[in-house]
Amino acid sequence: MSKKMFALRAGAVMVAAMVSTMAAQAGEVEVLHYWTSGGEAKAAKALQATLQAKGHSWKDFAVAGGGGDSATTVLKSRVVSGNAPAAAQIKGPSIQEWAQEGVLADISDVAAANNWDKLLPPVVANVMKYKGKYVAVPVNVHRVNWLWANPEAFKKAGAKVPTNWDEFFAAADKLKAAGIIPVAHGGQNWQDFTTFESVALGVGGADFYKKALVQLDQGSLKSDTMKKVLTTFKRIKGYTDKNAPGRDWNLATAMVIRGEAGMQLMGDWAKGEFIAAGKKPGTDFVCAAAPGTAKSFTFNIDSFALFKIKNEANVKAQKDLAAAILAPEFQEVFNLNKGSIPVRLGADMSKFDDCAKLSSKDFVDTAKSGSLVPSVAHGMAVSSAAEGAIKDAVSNFWNSDKQTVEDAMAKIASAAKTK
Ligand code: BGC
Repeated sequence: MSKKMFALRAGAVMVAAMVSTMAAQAGEVEVLHYWTSGGEAKAAKALQATLQAKGHSWKDFAVAGGGGDSATTVLKSRVVSGNAPAAAQIKGPSIQEWAQEGVLADISDVAAANNWDKLLPPVVANVMKYKGKYVAVPVNVHRVNWLWANPEAFKKAGAKVPTNWDEFFAAADKLKAAGIIPVAHGGQNWQDFTTFESVALGVGGADFYKKALVQLDQGSLKSDTMKKVLTTFKRIKGYTDKNAPGRDWNLATAMVIRGEAGMQLMGDWAKGEFIAAGKKPGTDFVCAAAPGTAKSFTFNIDSFALFKIKNEANVKAQKDLAAAILAPEFQEVFNLNKGSIPVRLGADMSKFDDCAKLSSKDFVDTAKSGSLVPSVAHGMAVSSAAEGAIKDAVSNFWNSDKQTVEDAMAKIASAAKTK
């Protein structure tokens, strides 16, 4: 055999050996998520690319539906039939509920190797652990108590972006008079509650919010403050359009993007939509704390719970994905698209816009002042059973022409007892 032929053969053998070891290690991760809108899909693509860069393959299991209610239903049936995906978008107290079923994998080795206890705020790390072992990995921090406004629409109406609820209704009247839909809303129960919890925070303050909506204290749920909250909440409905029922949140955001509507009360995944549409914060759209909530922060942390799976290569891929999620590069690219901020402590915010910088500062400040509160609408605060029941009670009130504030208060207080 000529020298050249020999070298070629040897090369081919080496390549074959490399390919076969890669194949032996490469696994597949099936990921259940509900990130299907413009901004969300870009963020999900970044996650997929990160996994693929590690030589693994991504099996997409996207279930459309904002807030993730449909995804949860599908997940339950998959797990019950013994066919869990490797990773699923699950958050807050639900992580504990799934862990109690014994279906989640212990990824404490990945956490220890990557120092998660040091790089995560304890309030976040605790939620990711079950009996001291990590079973989930956080992706980001979303702020829920935001108001998104179209400055052109406000200018046309001669209105000012509101900082409290009186100003909110004054601006809404002006927008209406100018022929602009004041509030873009999607009538689905998680969206109703997203508005409701911002009103509760703005009208009642952080202590009321915690007592009434986190501790589900009966006295607070039946208080005069709660009456004021419900009255203010219901008043907003008069400023939404007749097509709001059932509308997806991102279609409501699109109304603000087009200037057809003036404002939307929504978490900062809405910013992902503005950005995906090529809009610039401060110029094409404005972010402001929901009225009366500038000194508080309602948090919503997206995370992936990891399920017990068998195939060794897939377990390796699952762990590689978990490790990659908290790497600084991924945290940056993902959160720039998603509208949220990195969950790692001390992350470099230089590439982020002013909305994200404000969110990052307020996250730290409100943690110190005690006004950092978990979002109920986004599964951060109470058991899934209580959450579902109070969401339904709040939406029934929003949708009914007959129910009084007193009736609603009694129904919500009783729903809060659901175990
Ligand atoms: C999730 C976000 C998502 C939003 C709309 C929230 O509950 O945390 O990641 O973008 O719902 O689907």
